[in-house]
Amino acid sequence: MQGLNGRTALVTGGAKRLGAALAGGVAAAGARVLIHYHHSHDEAEELASLIIDEGGDASVIEADLADLVVADALIGRAIAQVGPIDILINSASIFQEVSFLEMPPDSIHENMNINTIAPMLLARRFAEQHQKGSIINLLDTLVMDYDKLHVPYHLSKRMLHTLTRIMAVEFAPYIRVNAIAPGLVLPPPGKDIDYLEGLAHSNPLQAYGNAADVVNAALYLLGSSFVTGQTMFVDGGRHLRGSMYE
Ligand SMILES: NC(=O)c1ccc[n+]([C@@H]2O[C@H](COP(=O)([O-])OP(=O)(O)OC[C@H]3O[C@@H](n4cnc5c(N)ncnc54)[C@H](OP(=O)(O)O)[C@@H]3O)[C@@H](O)[C@H]2O)c1
Repeated sequence: MQGLNGRTALVTGGAKRLGAALAGGVAAAGARVLIHYHHSHDEAEELASLIIDEGGDASVIEADLADLVVADALIGRAIAQVGPIDILINSASIFQEVSFLEMPPDSIHENMNINTIAPMLLARRFAEQHQKGSIINLLDTLVMDYDKLHVPYHLSKRMLHTLTRIMAVEFAPYIRVNAIAPGLVLPPPGKDIDYLEGLAHSNPLQAYGNAADVVNAALYLLGSSFVTGQTMFVDGGRHLRGSMYE
């Protein structure tokens, strides 16, 4: 598939895991890809080399998205490095185990800055290019439920869900803004396939997905010129379960 030929994509958190799959996926579809990383310099460089070896075009860029001044400057730096950006995939995120009763205010700020405000700042700078483009925000299926184990993360993704729809309206007609809400796809770092198998019962399909499911959703959204403001749940139907605040 070469549907993204001639386009340039910036993928935040693109060095590892789902971000790397998304960077590889858009590159395989023909896009030139700029892989953003924070700590994973070596993984980002290795992925860029792999994409280049396979005939694609890739380079890397570092930024700490917890620093909102740095986040606000990233699109400008990216444009200076590779030219206009056509696709922005906001995948970088933190996922900390914090309950509501133990939640320190600093943790709310940190999650909001990295998971919500940074994607919004990137999106606004992206829109200032005044050209056609497409943004995909990575959410979480539990925006439709209550993730009581990761409350600051949950709050941050809920706000990004709302921002996806706000930005779809604000940036129309030139820029489409959509989201992907994965469910059980990759085990968190330190957990293995047993983690996914143990939780598969929690969705109607009683299954877990993989990175390719998320990449397919992204390619669909990037190729669908009449779709904006959508959240695509890639979650075995988990979002249909009505257990909110049970
Ligand atoms: N994995 C799943 O099954 C799943 C399920 C639901 C939702 N999601 C969502 O899908 C997206 C990708 O998931 P994932 O599991 O691949 O994510 P992840 O491994 O938790 O994190 C992705 C990247 O975010 C970057 N990051 C963290 N803090 C940063 C900071 N201060 N500045 C810049 N970058 C920072 C890290 O980059 P460096 O390594 O370079 O530091 C990290 O590699 C996330 O938004 C996640 O919430 C994933």
